[in-house]
Amino acid sequence: MKIFNSIDQFRLERAQVTAARVGFVPTMGALHKGHAALIERSVKECDFTVVSVYVNAAQFDNADDLSRYPETLEQDAELVGALGVDIILAPTYEQMYPDDFRYRVVETDLSGELCGKHRDGHFTGVLTVVLKLLNIVRPDRAYFGEKDFQQYRLIEGMARAFFLDTEIVPCETVREHDGLALSSRNLNLDSNARALAPLIYEAITSSASDEVVTERLARAGFDVDYVMRKFGRRFVAARIGKGRRQVRLIDNVPVPVDSKTLNGEKT
Ligand code: PAF
Repeated sequence: MKIFNSIDQFRLERAQVTAARVGFVPTMGALHKGHAALIERSVKECDFTVVSVYVNAAQFDNADDLSRYPETLEQDAELVGALGVDIILAPTYEQMYPDDFRYRVVETDLSGELCGKHRDGHFTGVLTVVLKLLNIVRPDRAYFGEKDFQQYRLIEGMARAFFLDTEIVPCETVREHDGLALSSRNLNLDSNARALAPLIYEAITSSASDEVVTERLARAGFDVDYVMRKFGRRFVAARIGKGRRQVRLIDNVPVPVDSKTLNGEKT
């Protein structure tokens, strides 16, 4: 496996790749079993797999969240190497943003809902970096976790809007034994917050209404950003812990369309 920090060097190498199908898994590092599942799928379905590790400051709306985002490149490289990845691309800000983020991809509808309502500019940062990465890597397939379902939908829409040649592949959320969706941010949960975190999955898979789920989580100590249905799924975002130690968790699950929903959306 090769590791590239230079985009120019990576592109020289990429030009030599003759593999029939190139797979790509973009990440911000701090890799866990959820990333491993995306990588395994790419390695299985493609002849050549690239993983990027880049903590994209442009998508963080909160400086504390960015400064506390775990960075574990050495362990990440070990894990990725063992899974049969061909290249890790780990560029610097200067490499990724020669324009200093003057050029941006802005989506004007879905990106203002759900997480977009609570994280100013987040999806502009995500779409911008993903478009850059897809143009650099030129994969046939790119794999994204359904834990970030809104992100997946926006990226899939962007790929269609800009006629990208990459197939955007959604992959099922990987969970801990107690239901907690795997996330790099779980590393920042203290023992009390970790003990409470599985309540999120328990609550959204219950038959209780969105309002009751919101109350239940609030009573347990979460600051709830939203619990709501869309796309035939129930979404949640809630923060646990105090002050600078607060961790924002998100999750979503498919829900059967019932009398309270129409086209998967709450009426
Ligand atoms: O899901 C993530 O880890 C990030 O949002 C992504 C897609 C790597 C873009 O920075």
